[in-house]
Amino acid sequence: RQQQLIDKLEEQRRLEEGEWVELIGGRTPESAACIRERARAVRDEHYGRKVYTRGLIELSSYCKNNCYYCGIRRSNNNAVRYRLSDEQVMACCREGYKLGFRTFVLQGGEDLFFSDERLVPLVARIHGAFPDCAITLSMGERSRESYQALFDAGAGRYLLRHETADHLHYRSLHPQEMSPFRRHKCLFTLREIGYQVGSGFMVGSPGQTAEQLARDMDFLHYLQPHMIGIGPFIPHRHTMYAGEQAGSLELTLFMLACLRLAHPKALIPATTALGTIDPKGREQGILSGANVVMPNLSPVEHRKDYDLYDNKISTGEEAAECRFCLQARMARIGYELVVGRGDSLVG
Ligand code: 5AD
Repeated sequence: RQQQLIDKLEEQRRLEEGEWVELIGGRTPESAACIRERARAVRDEHYGRKVYTRGLIELSSYCKNNCYYCGIRRSNNNAVRYRLSDEQVMACCREGYKLGFRTFVLQGGEDLFFSDERLVPLVARIHGAFPDCAITLSMGERSRESYQALFDAGAGRYLLRHETADHLHYRSLHPQEMSPFRRHKCLFTLREIGYQVGSGFMVGSPGQTAEQLARDMDFLHYLQPHMIGIGPFIPHRHTMYAGEQAGSLELTLFMLACLRLAHPKALIPATTALGTIDPKGREQGILSGANVVMPNLSPVEHRKDYDLYDNKISTGEEAAECRFCLQARMARIGYELVVGRGDSLVG
């Protein structure tokens, strides 16, 4: 039966919700090995043995939101807050550019300091200085006008994880003031404006079931994003989920393989969270269908303060170290880290 489901998924790129539950909830070591192998073949068919890189710049650890699982949630009084100046961001980009990066990802908490008056000129400045680079933003929920102004200033891609498509599960992870509908609306707005859009979810968050993961797969089928980022939930010591178990490597790799078969051409990163729960997590991710890595370009002195979950990797490494370490890691499993914009093949 598992075999039938995997065949159907590969052929039709989608399953009914009940079938997803069967596939995910009923997985065995054998079905997991099989789906990962298929996912890797599909990945290699579309992207060869290439792994795209994006330079990640963590702009701000201030956040107005209060997601229960996240280390930089606003009520975590232990969090150390910083925001990068325009000069610091430009310096990160210059260093990244020298190292071959042609995509910069500006990621941060929902920090009201980064109003359009501040963020739009920053994006325009990066775009002016590095016209051959793609600018990706990951700065949370904003208005349509804001997304449009940032797009016009030169940002072409936007990452905004839906986190979970199940409304009850969403409520167990986020306070009432946050809304899954608003989040979904943002994603469709971004797409209408013309962004390449990324979404995604956490794997193994507290209380998560196979039914909820099935909803995530269904939601992504409707959204058809260009990029899909998933990673294991990892507890953070200063949150109410401090005592919960992290999402497993095994389930995360299984979900990566499902995503690759459902979205053959999508850009799917082997995330930092995956590299955090297992020393070979990112390599395993690539071998299960992922095709992007996102080394950190943030200034080393602030790395440890973008503290979403415990034991986040690469906190002390220089950008160059990060890049060359990943290059060596990919080479060891027979994959080539490529520089360049790495545009999505999704139409
Ligand atoms: N474990 C794993 N991922 C997390 N994120 C936030 N907190 C955690 C955590 N404790 C993820 C969310 C968010 C992205 C920036 O980081 O999915 O979208």
